[in-house]
Amino acid sequence: MQVLLLFILSSSWDVLNAFYMNYEDEASKHRMRKFNQDLKPIMLSKNNQKYHTEPSKNFNCDEFSSYAINCTIDAAFIYNSTRMSPPSPTKINDWCRAIKHLTNCAIDWNTDCKDVTDSHFNEESIKGHIHVVNNICDDEWFLIRYEELEVCIEAASQPWEFCYLTFKNSVEEQKNITQEWTHYEVHFRLCCARARFRRCTLETLFTLPPECSHNHAVTLQKFSVVVSEGSVYQDCDHNMMYENCPGGDPRPSSAMLRRLMSADILSSASVRQYGSIITSLCLFILFVVIIQSV
Ligand SMILES: *[C@@H]1O[C@H](CO)[C@@H](O)[C@H](O)[C@H]1NC(C)=O
Ligand SMILES: *[C@@H]1O[C@H](CO)[C@@H](O)[C@H](O)[C@H]1NC(C)=O
Ligand SMILES: *[C@@H]1O[C@H](CO)[C@@H](O)[C@H](O)[C@H]1NC(C)=O
Repeated sequence: MQVLLLFILSSSWDVLNAFYMNYEDEASKHRMRKFNQDLKPIMLSKNNQKYHTEPSKNFNCDEFSSYAINCTIDAAFIYNSTRMSPPSPTKINDWCRAIKHLTNCAIDWNTDCKDVTDSHFNEESIKGHIHVVNNICDDEWFLIRYEELEVCIEAASQPWEFCYLTFKNSVEEQKNITQEWTHYEVHFRLCCARARFRRCTLETLFTLPPECSHNHAVTLQKFSVVVSEGSVYQDCDHNMMYENCPGGDPRPSSAMLRRLMSADILSSASVRQYGSIITSLCLFILFVVIIQSV
């Protein structure tokens, strides 16, 4: 059995409820391996944290649920917040420490116990967490941009939370009802949910309150994209018939993409050249991410 780790630590209760048993058979392992080869390799950061901080703890490998619950309780203490929306810039360090703690917890267990018992943490879920750590927590450039978001996040937290809750429920439903996350049907629905979440947060970009500048919105959308990739750590770029998604094609319309780009042109006239270069770079990254899903 495996356990799914949780992304946005909403509360310890919510965390405790986030245990989804899943069984990974040989075929799905093979598929995951193949899929992993298609993805860019996950680079563990050399400086900020090691994923094996402590030597073998001589786990009692029979006590999986107790161990998993301890991990999530500890993580909930580290983040110490019940909010679902993106962490405020003053709390993102704690949010990151909590995710790293969960990740280390899971890797430690799997390293020591996977061969001893069939209870272990879900590998896809661990990789998703590492993806978030690499692209948010260990990305200093991103964190500098994120620091400006305090007011914007407060103002945008309600629509964002709505998007996230919808996404989280769809993902939980899919991962809950099935033993096999990589099954075609489940994979398809997970990818649809991921694309719908991005579109939802993208749509809020266009209706964001005045507290959010265009730059803020772009940074926030990058956060959303990384979190969505971490939650559904699967290859959603190939062989996906998004037209057939329940509820219609969730990809952003070309009008939306044009609007995102033209907002850049409008604002760059009035900002310093440096600022506009950063914006363009940001938009470029965002654009690539969006295009990948079109
Ligand atoms: C979980 O924490 C409790 C209380 O600190 C401790 O007694 C127990 O041994 C821990 N379980 C595992 C598996 O580490
Ligand atoms: C947790 O958050 C509460 C309320 O925000 C605060 O009063 C408390 O000091 C925090 N606890 C820790 C250990 O940081
Ligand atoms: C997941 O399954 C459990 C028990 O099978 C159920 O209690 C829970 O409501 C389900 N959650 C979702 C989101 O479907």
